[in-house]
Amino acid sequence: MTALVLKLGGSVVTDKDRPETLDGEALERAVDAVAGVDSDAELVVVHGGGSFGHHNASEHGVSTTEGTHDAGAALAIHGAMKTLNGFVLRRLLERDVNAVPVHPFSVAHRDRTGELTLPTGQIRTMLEEGFVPVLHGDLVAHAGEGATVVSGDELVAGLASDLEADRVGLCSTVPGVLDGDERVIERIVAYEDVESVLGGSESTDVTGGMAAKVRALLALEASASIFGLEDLDEFLAGGEPGTTVE
Ligand code: IPE
Repeated sequence: MTALVLKLGGSVVTDKDRPETLDGEALERAVDAVAGVDSDAELVVVHGGGSFGHHNASEHGVSTTEGTHDAGAALAIHGAMKTLNGFVLRRLLERDVNAVPVHPFSVAHRDRTGELTLPTGQIRTMLEEGFVPVLHGDLVAHAGEGATVVSGDELVAGLASDLEADRVGLCSTVPGVLDGDERVIERIVAYEDVESVLGGSESTDVTGGMAAKVRALLALEASASIFGLEDLDEFLAGGEPGTTVE
């Protein structure tokens, strides 16, 4: 399978300063770009939370490592992500993108070491049947922890290797990985290339900052791009805007 996996950062499509508020214009722009993709392409979309999900998670003290056993808390966090997913799906449908939801909480889990298992049989079948699966950062059942957060970036990494994706794109609020002079670094082939600007390997970055993104993308077979919303069209047309991580 030669799928294309695209993550729309939560802060790109929502207004990060206002709880549970979309950035309507940015979302329209992103959705227009996705609608322009050749309908034969096998495209998987993942979106983050932005102003949905994160505040509910921190309210309940839930992170990727600290879980909850409280079903009410789980429902609040998952519910916020489902609300955002509904908005994204509706806009995609309005543009005739054959988008269908996949909620990670219903299918994925972590073992005691935190390792994520994300089944992809349903996603493969959706792709084969002409659908565009749309996943989102979510909660997942976590052995010994109850339920913890799974970020969209982590889902992208899992999907890319399982589906043998040939291209991966992370659409972010920055135009790429920036060097010390705020210039976009065009290509990263090893973490040492960017260690001086992103921090050493001991730096903890479980929340999906740039260092974690770059590390996860370096581990993939697929070539990956990190770019801003203004470059989404170019990426989806086959270009390599922003930073390419190989
Ligand atoms: C957040 O997903 C999911 C929850 C907090 C439940 P992400 O971590 O992928 O979201 P962004 O892209 O950083 O906003």
